[in-house]
Amino acid sequence: MPDLTEKVVNLAKRRGFVFPSSEIYGGFRSTYDYGPLGVLLKRNVMDAWWRAMVQERDDIVGLDAAVLMAPKVWEASGHLATFTDPLVDCRNCKERWRADQIGDTCPKCGSHDLTEARPFNLMFKTHVGPVENEGSVAYLRPETAQGIFVNFANVLQTSRKKPPFGIAQQGKSFRNEITPGNFIFRTREFEQMEMEFFVPPDQGQKWFEYWCEERVRWYTDLGIPAESLRLRHHDPEELSHYSAGTADVEFLYPWGWGELEGIANRTDYDLTQHAKFSGERLEYFDQASGERYVPHVIEPAAGVGRSMMAFLLAAYDEDEVGGEARTVLRLHHRLAPTKVAVLPLSRKDTLTPTAKEVFDRLKVHFMCDYDETQSIGRRYRRQDEAGTPYCVTIDFETLDDKAVTVRDRDTLAQDRIPIEGLVDYLRERLSA
Ligand code: GAP
Repeated sequence: MPDLTEKVVNLAKRRGFVFPSSEIYGGFRSTYDYGPLGVLLKRNVMDAWWRAMVQERDDIVGLDAAVLMAPKVWEASGHLATFTDPLVDCRNCKERWRADQIGDTCPKCGSHDLTEARPFNLMFKTHVGPVENEGSVAYLRPETAQGIFVNFANVLQTSRKKPPFGIAQQGKSFRNEITPGNFIFRTREFEQMEMEFFVPPDQGQKWFEYWCEERVRWYTDLGIPAESLRLRHHDPEELSHYSAGTADVEFLYPWGWGELEGIANRTDYDLTQHAKFSGERLEYFDQASGERYVPHVIEPAAGVGRSMMAFLLAAYDEDEVGGEARTVLRLHHRLAPTKVAVLPLSRKDTLTPTAKEVFDRLKVHFMCDYDETQSIGRRYRRQDEAGTPYCVTIDFETLDDKAVTVRDRDTLAQDRIPIEGLVDYLRERLSA
């Protein structure tokens, strides 16, 4: 399906998943806003990650560090010196490109008259406080990871964890990408889900392999077909300045394989650097053995937008129902923005009170939608496009038998369920 990206982008806009940011002003440089369905999907992706990485484990704790940090952090981490992309200008059309992405030809005008590549730092610079001078410079964080490293001692002390243990964090990161694009795949403002797993130095490789496997499984558990995923190990020349080994979890996007998440063996690089620059001891002392060491770090670092895009692409489907074409998002139940739609068969006053009663009963358990506009067939289609797993229809018989019809998005099976047992019926299916 070569136009799958276009279909998903259109659906995302039409149904309120993703809007171009500042759209009434013509948009703003590859930034996007998440609409009513998008914000739910985004939260569900982040919740699923938090659940797998923090809630269901006893060896990982959470953190939420500030976006603005002491500029020294970026000196220590190496970002000020080396977080750069090679930038070239086309002398003919004046467009700027990433040298490593275009070879020797300008993709816009075809000219070969390009400047020499020069390093371009991707960090956004700003000033903190009322004075704009060198002393007030600060940076928007380009990764959430550093907030974890600088809090290593705080967390170690307060959580009483010992290696191997992890610190997980989700939040906004910013990079002044030279060539953002492919919808929400590469943007300048984006959300990350990162976890730094601190291990005894001789256990680095073992945990690196463990996390590669775990992270691929997270995507397949949430409905991405295994054949659309692969693990690609970086060549030595591709490695970041801090990495002793990196593997990308890649997804087969319509435009080819692309990175979903990176898993890196960061060794003791970050803790050692921050210890050097801050003068603080960032190490673990094992009282039992009397051993003192700087833990090595394995880091699975995922992007929320990229995951959302992959989940949407993998879930998009078109089929036929009763001779009519329909578009359906077969999202995993846990990710579906709305879990249940409550649909009175008609707008007649006779049905509304019961339908509202059903909605009130369900809304405390699940994210629900209430819709009484248009024909029931069109309302089903709308919910299919939104990926809603279950539609509950209240009809005139409901008034007598106190039961409703539950329609399954995927099988299209319709079950008649007593209102009394509806929450249990839905809970059982939605948690499967
Ligand atoms: N702390 C390591 C780190 O940040 P990265 O590979 O640069 O590693 C991790 O980023 C993940 O963050 C990527 O796999 C991707 O999912 C997401 N990401 C990075 N840059 C992005 C961008 N410009 N737009 C959207 N997501 C991005």
